[in-house]
Amino acid sequence: MNASDNSRSKFTIAIADANGAVTNDLSALIVQTGLPLVPPNTAAKDFCNFILFYQDGRLSLQSTDEGAAGAVCVDFDNESLQYRQRRPVKPEALLKAAGVKHGQSSHVLDATAGFGLDAFLFASAGASVTLIERSVILHAMLSDGLERGAVSADEKVRAAVTRMQLLHGDSAVMLAQHQSTPVDIVYLDPMFPERKKSAKVKKNMALLQQLLHSEAQAEHLLANAIGVASKRVVVKRPRHAPFLEARKPSFSQEGKSSRFDVYLCAAKSQLA
Ligand SMILES: C[S@@+](CC[C@H](N)C(=O)[O-])C[C@H]1O[C@@H](n2cnc3c(N)ncnc32)[C@H](O)[C@@H]1O
Repeated sequence: MNASDNSRSKFTIAIADANGAVTNDLSALIVQTGLPLVPPNTAAKDFCNFILFYQDGRLSLQSTDEGAAGAVCVDFDNESLQYRQRRPVKPEALLKAAGVKHGQSSHVLDATAGFGLDAFLFASAGASVTLIERSVILHAMLSDGLERGAVSADEKVRAAVTRMQLLHGDSAVMLAQHQSTPVDIVYLDPMFPERKKSAKVKKNMALLQQLLHSEAQAEHLLANAIGVASKRVVVKRPRHAPFLEARKPSFSQEGKSSRFDVYLCAAKSQLA
């Protein structure tokens, strides 16, 4: 597509360089994602709806809309995430729903990794977490965040990140084909309908919603997840949303702004 040809539509997303410099990191990113580079002397907003670019050494995503919110990135050193990681009194509803207790080892498969926030909370509680992400963009951002987290000045962040293993692929396929190590818990957080709240985390999710709008379906994830988990499957839903795939859970755990539907797999000793 010729971006100067106004009769054609824009790219959804492209990679932007830093002041004309295509660094090794950017070249690798272009190969890894297959995304085009915003051509020299072209305003990003005329070429694409979102840009992926390095800002302060972090792979960042931003809308090119006028007045759009700032860039987002995967940052496990983020203060509010660290507060949630260390909160001494009230355990996260997410951990309660998953039955993940600090100090007990378990293997969680996060089949809709996104920005890796929930996966980081599982890993911070001591779980080994396999993250699967389908979007090549989110996968690249997560990979960048994990690399930085692995050399964080904060020992607790480093420790959590060493327990996180990232895979790229479609969980619907990967769960259906899963035959290796048994997994205790499968966690699903399929895309929410857009919400209007403006807290930092929600802003990240709103951007994700706009970017991945058309491909964010949770097709057959739940049935396949139940086939893989030896203990339980946990599904994050908006508080008043219907059950995923219209399947009634064993019980639900209310979170602050979400509901966690829990499907117990106790009858199954292990993955077949
Ligand atoms: C709402 S976000 C998850 C947010 C995540 N829990 C977090 O804490 O950042 C949903 C993510 O799941 C991914 N996804 C949706 N369906 C998927 C599939 N079948 N396989 C792998 N990833 C999928 C989307 O690309 C998106 O990044």
